[in-house]
Amino acid sequence: MAIEEKIKKLVEMRAEARLGGGEKRIDAQHAKGKLTARERIDLLLDEGSFEELDMFVTHRATDFGLDKTVFLSDGVVTGYGTVDGRLIYVFSQDFTVLGGSLSETNAKKICKVMDMAMKAGAPVIGLNDSGGARIQEGVLSLSGYADIFQRNIEASGVIPQLSAILGPCAGGAVYSPALTDFILMTENISYMFVTGPKVTKTVTGEDISVEDLGGPMIHASKSGVAHFVSENEQEAIDTLRRLISYVPQNFMETTPLVECNDPIDRIDDELNTLIPDNPNKPYNVIDVITTIVDNGEFEEVHKFFAKNIVVGFARFNGQSVGIVANQPNFLAGVLDIDASKKAARFVRFCDCFNIPLVTLVDVPGFLPGSSQEYGGIISNGAKLMYAYGEATVPKVTITLRKSYGGAHDVMSCKQLKGDLNYAWPSAEIAVMGAQGAIEVLNYKELSAIEDLEKRAEFVAQKELEYREKFANPYQAAKYGFIDDVIEPRNTRFRIIRALAALATKRDKMPAKKHTNIPL
Ligand code: HXC
Repeated sequence: MAIEEKIKKLVEMRAEARLGGGEKRIDAQHAKGKLTARERIDLLLDEGSFEELDMFVTHRATDFGLDKTVFLSDGVVTGYGTVDGRLIYVFSQDFTVLGGSLSETNAKKICKVMDMAMKAGAPVIGLNDSGGARIQEGVLSLSGYADIFQRNIEASGVIPQLSAILGPCAGGAVYSPALTDFILMTENISYMFVTGPKVTKTVTGEDISVEDLGGPMIHASKSGVAHFVSENEQEAIDTLRRLISYVPQNFMETTPLVECNDPIDRIDDELNTLIPDNPNKPYNVIDVITTIVDNGEFEEVHKFFAKNIVVGFARFNGQSVGIVANQPNFLAGVLDIDASKKAARFVRFCDCFNIPLVTLVDVPGFLPGSSQEYGGIISNGAKLMYAYGEATVPKVTITLRKSYGGAHDVMSCKQLKGDLNYAWPSAEIAVMGAQGAIEVLNYKELSAIEDLEKRAEFVAQKELEYREKFANPYQAAKYGFIDDVIEPRNTRFRIIRALAALATKRDKMPAKKHTNIPL
């Protein structure tokens, strides 16, 4: 065959591979409101940067007539490219080929890019849209999944791993995204569950829709499995690109520095009056965050889950940080099981990837009650404490208002190796709130006063005494547990200075095989 013909054949084969399962199935994919695997990659990566690998891979199964159903690329598009000029490895499941189901060879393609990403020290993004294990291939498909899971585990903490769910993700297939750092789901087209509605009905009798069992908002708000929900695929891809901008390539690198046009010494007068005089009145801590960070840009993670704590990425003077903040606007910012898990996972992600932590504290304590105790608030609260205590990245803590009891210790206090701990003059750092303390300390006197008015007078007097002594930051500052009491309006500048001073921080935990966080 002459070279022209050989090249012609190559071009034809490429065109065939690019068609995946064919025009009809591409139309069906579009009719469902979904993009194809390759259209998604085109949106995700910088224009023209995609280098595709393994385009000519086909499966080698013959059972159930599969030998007559062979498609180039075998249901997954893999390769590498750039996002804002930075190297990224990607796999994108192609639903038009046998429902994007995972075959032996399809798994090998995914494993190949994961291995390459690990060697190059670059993030991996998985775009998931699959009917799960390719049923006709039986155990070969299951072992393919396990090969991917093992790589997810080995890559954890080495390179950032992001998963977008853009179609079905069911059965054991859910565990690959679950092992990655962040999961994004998209309204109307994506769902995740270990067991679908039909089997659920057969086994338990529960009648439930796909959406209610594993739709995006269920996982974003109830299970906490999904960190982000997008209205459409473009929004999902935009979120992936923004997320990449906050994280380093791997655990040995620092985060990319972005040019900062927002003055570092910007004074924010409104912060001086943001905290209500009444300590029981809420305010929105996101207002504090967006006021102090560069250009008011805050990428909130887990927005719909455990709203009593806020976590997300922002920048100070162009440097990425992870922000953790109690949210007085929801359940008074109390720490409960979900909030502890949410923040602990985030703190650990930031620590893995050298992203400094800025913690804003306004916490009345742990949520009391049998449901919390039975649910294990003890070991779950310990997760957050553990995460902060083992984190060796720079840790800057600002106590805005309440910092009570065990929750004070948990929220990046000095003794959990908080590097610079500042407080606003409105801070109240104590074992518990005034009311609770008075009940405990004056139990006998209180039960002896029968007259309600006199009782109220007594409580008010004691509350005044207690608040004068403890409802301030100076008791803690006296012992050096708070490094300085700062004017709220100077917070941005003080954080930027603190981060600059900590930029070369080195710290490590004692040598061990691995930690044993209370899971
Ligand atoms: C082989 C599959 C497939 C699969 C879909 N297809 N899933 N082929 N293995 N797992 C094929 C279909 O036969 C069909 O081929 C084409 O993909 C498109 O599928 P449709 O059913 O027409 O699409 P849709 O109506 O959108 O339904 C999508 C779906 C459904 C809900 C995902 O296909 C489905 O229920 N699939 C099976 C899901 C499942 O049970 N998977 C196993 C999960 S357990 P044709 O040629 O007819 O168009 C698992 C274990 C992993 O994954 C374990 C890891 C440890």
